[in-house]
Amino acid sequence: MSSLLERQRTHTCNDLTAAAVGQEVVLMGWVQSNRDHHGRIFVDLRDRFGLTQLVFKPETSAALRDRAEKLGREFCIGIRGVVEDRQANGGSPNPRLKTGEVEISVLEMDLFNPSVTPPFMIEDDIDTNEEKRLQYRTLDLRRPRLQRNLALRHRVMQATRTHFDGHGFLEMETPLLVKYTPGGARNFLVPSRLNPGKFYALAESPQLYKQMFMMAGMDRYFQIVKCFRDEDLRGDRQPEFTQIDVELSWATEPVVQNIIEGLMVSIFKETIGVELQRPFQRMPYDEAMARYGSDKPDLRFGLEHIDLTEAMKAKDGGGVALFKGVLDAGGIIKAMVVPAKHELSRTEVDKLEDEVKKLGGKGLARARVGEDGRSWTQTPLAKTITPEAMAAIHERTGATPGDVLLFQFGKAHTVHTVLGGLRLHLRDKLKLVETDATGVSKDWRILWVTDFPLFEHDEDKGTWAAAHHPFTSPQQGHEDKLTSDPGACRARAYDLVLNGNEVGGGSIRIHDSAVQAKVFSALGISDEDKQRKFGFLLEALQYGCPPHGGIALGLDRLCMLLCGGTSLREVIAYPKTQRGTDLLTDAPTAVSNAQLEDLFIASTAQEEPPATA
Ligand code: AMO
Repeated sequence: MSSLLERQRTHTCNDLTAAAVGQEVVLMGWVQSNRDHHGRIFVDLRDRFGLTQLVFKPETSAALRDRAEKLGREFCIGIRGVVEDRQANGGSPNPRLKTGEVEISVLEMDLFNPSVTPPFMIEDDIDTNEEKRLQYRTLDLRRPRLQRNLALRHRVMQATRTHFDGHGFLEMETPLLVKYTPGGARNFLVPSRLNPGKFYALAESPQLYKQMFMMAGMDRYFQIVKCFRDEDLRGDRQPEFTQIDVELSWATEPVVQNIIEGLMVSIFKETIGVELQRPFQRMPYDEAMARYGSDKPDLRFGLEHIDLTEAMKAKDGGGVALFKGVLDAGGIIKAMVVPAKHELSRTEVDKLEDEVKKLGGKGLARARVGEDGRSWTQTPLAKTITPEAMAAIHERTGATPGDVLLFQFGKAHTVHTVLGGLRLHLRDKLKLVETDATGVSKDWRILWVTDFPLFEHDEDKGTWAAAHHPFTSPQQGHEDKLTSDPGACRARAYDLVLNGNEVGGGSIRIHDSAVQAKVFSALGISDEDKQRKFGFLLEALQYGCPPHGGIALGLDRLCMLLCGGTSLREVIAYPKTQRGTDLLTDAPTAVSNAQLEDLFIASTAQEEPPATA
């Protein structure tokens, strides 16, 4: 065995400073770079902690120097040497590195393994496309940024465990192979070889198991758990993601929220050193929709939405035929003001219409307030709108000369989606939020969004679906409306929103089997289906179920925000692409007919679609 491995490393590549000059040390790592300077070979040695400069001097050993000259990028080596002062050696310190004052004059080197030329440089600012980086993920993970991100993720997990352990929670595992219960996210199915023709689902969350832990008297539960959802993927969604999952007995909303606020405070302190102020802000769902068109509002900047429906109703559409048409059809009219100081040019405003179309809107009615503050320019609306309607809009929006007014009108749902999306587009375009050089936000706005509707209406099918999940308790007094007026029912549900991202969602649960059965009925689940799908839950609810509630936080999303990332792939070691593929191992793959036969399955797929990211 190598004598250096036997001795083991004495320091990491980020440890040695001027205080260590004269010490003999052993380091291990990868060759970041290698250069010849007046016959001496300088090598930057890298590990996940940092970089240390090595120097191979011909006067120490010509043979060693010649071996060093041949070291290529990503060769894996160990060295023994003496810490020296760079300046005393005639070099210059590197103030950007913690080890920048020293270099190691190498006495002995072990080449553990050479490397073929890597497909990209192992450093942060590379423009190699993501597909290639995911294909060579082992090398990608050597980059400092990803190593930092995974270290932060580790700290979040440790802070989580310490927090919950300190508050009497038990970390308990739940099955991943579970019963298929349609309704929520689309499940991945797993065929059961031992039960021909039958399937497990991969758990989309431990929801029912954690509730049954409460029924079992476990009192307080948490788990850092993988969840699986076969959804259409986006930057903030992965098919396989991790939740910090929590449930507690005797819960009320403030009890759950307090525990989670404590967790968030400690995670922020221990990862990025930020002190979050408690209690976190609360905002009812209706207010969030009214002011921001979103149930996950980003409160770091303004551009609030202003409802003009009543004002324009009072003016019978104010001379604008489109307004009148929408009002007559029961729609709403809302506006957003971009202040003059942002100096949006006419062309830029015109381009916003393209964004609106991408967001599902038909177009973008818009106007610029004239210099007199009483007229509009750059808009066809000016031709017909009455001065009174214009004045009412100025009064409600507070718009002043040079400001740009952006309007959306129609069905409330579409107006909110479009204007909410446009608000976020303007946030990025106008750089309304500040980040540091690594992309981490300089401002943290965290809030609880509360009082959600219990059900959502599916316009196409004409049915009601659970807005959170069907185990969420209706608010007090709303139990009677479950079947008579589902749209009016509010839930004891809450989301945790951080800088415009939903980082958690939970609720107080139903602990009464009669109410649970009523909710299933409101969702159109027949008595027979209730028993078939949820019989075990209805049964368990009958044996003295304690009041309980909980929440699940999206660990990946939280880490992404703390790292300043824009995609979950920056905080998941081995992520999937938008198409759900793993480019590193090339999963999923086709399997042989014999394997399928073993599972009593026949594939109807014609051919594999081309694999792209
Ligand atoms: P929910 O479905 O809201 O609640 O999920 C909780 C949190 O998990 C994160 N999340 C995701 N992260 C990455 N990729 C995904 N595909 C993905 N889907 C969700 C979000 C979300 O806020 N059982 C309930 C919780 C409860 O009621 O206690 C649940 O799973 O940050």
